[in-house]
Amino acid sequence: MVREILKLSENDIVEEIWKIKRRLGERLVILGHHYQRDDVIQFADFRGDSLGLAKSAAKLNAKYIIFCGVHFMAEVADMLTTNNQSIILPEMRAGCSMANMATKGQIEKAWTELTAATNEKIIPVTYINCTAELKAFVGERGGAICTSSNAKEIVSWALKEGPKLLFFPDQHLGRNTCYDLGISLDEMVVYDPRKKGVSLTDQQIRASKVILWYGCCSVHQKFTVQDVEHTRQSYPDSKIIVHPECCFDVVNKSDMSGPTSFILEKVMGAPATASFTIGTEANLVRRISKLCPDKIIRSLASSNEDKSLCPTMNMIKPASLLLSLRDIEKESLSNVIKVQQEIKEKSLMALDKMLLIGG
Ligand code: 13P
Ligand code: SF4
Repeated sequence: MVREILKLSENDIVEEIWKIKRRLGERLVILGHHYQRDDVIQFADFRGDSLGLAKSAAKLNAKYIIFCGVHFMAEVADMLTTNNQSIILPEMRAGCSMANMATKGQIEKAWTELTAATNEKIIPVTYINCTAELKAFVGERGGAICTSSNAKEIVSWALKEGPKLLFFPDQHLGRNTCYDLGISLDEMVVYDPRKKGVSLTDQQIRASKVILWYGCCSVHQKFTVQDVEHTRQSYPDSKIIVHPECCFDVVNKSDMSGPTSFILEKVMGAPATASFTIGTEANLVRRISKLCPDKIIRSLASSNEDKSLCPTMNMIKPASLLLSLRDIEKESLSNVIKVQQEIKEKSLMALDKMLLIGG
């Protein structure tokens, strides 16, 4: 079947996707993250950032939901839908490298060390870019999940619940958010499980307010202070807007930062002839550029725009989408994402909290 699809022309694939989509009607909804390729996102009934797509999924009645995004996003959609609905990820290899930077074993070990070092209450907050197991870990311990859209609200809530915060897996989103909330850099420490022996001493844990996990996004960490300085020199009128997964210095030296939907809305809403340099994934930057022919849009990675393509988001192709659709029509589903019931229930404690505080 895969080989047969690969023999089809691009046009034949596109036509067949539209035909099957029409035949399935309301039984099917396709969700697409902003980082998806144009030839895939054209089929999405709803486009959005992580928070927007989670909220869309929670409202859907469709029997089949194809998630054009990455694995953790499909898991969240499964948590927020009923057991009679099926979430399908067209490409099982579409994971998130940041989510892979924190395993349950590592977080449990860190938690044991942190809670042994201090009597102060530690509230765990996880970025939504993590496995379902870690969402369950946080849910069980009274913590919450956040996305880049609501990180400030969730971290503010956490710091009212307890004097200390453990934020994982993205150190940059954690640091940028806490700094915006008035926490100084020297109140934050980084827990790095790759270090031999203990990562942080008891003294460092006791003296800190925020413990950041060492994780990062392989795409956003490529934007550098040199990229920002080069833009300032070469295009002084260009506003620099970046995703908060970029490192602290890049965010700090930029004009604005925010989630993918914020970047899209800010640029789309700017007056004609406005100039923007954008530090986020390349598919989204290229799409914004096409949608705004009247504006000057550059990538912050202008010397090599391809370096900011997210390799896993890019794995979903029209051919994989067609394969999922054919399987639905045959009622022989493949790539169904099902979170174990116990993990789902524990994760929902943290996810519902997020939707309540920062939905
Ligand atoms: P958003 O929630 O801003 O869409 O971010 C998701 C993501 O994975 C960014 O790398
Ligand atoms: Fe994960 Fe980064 Fe890709 Fe987002 S852009 S899905 S954080 S690897």
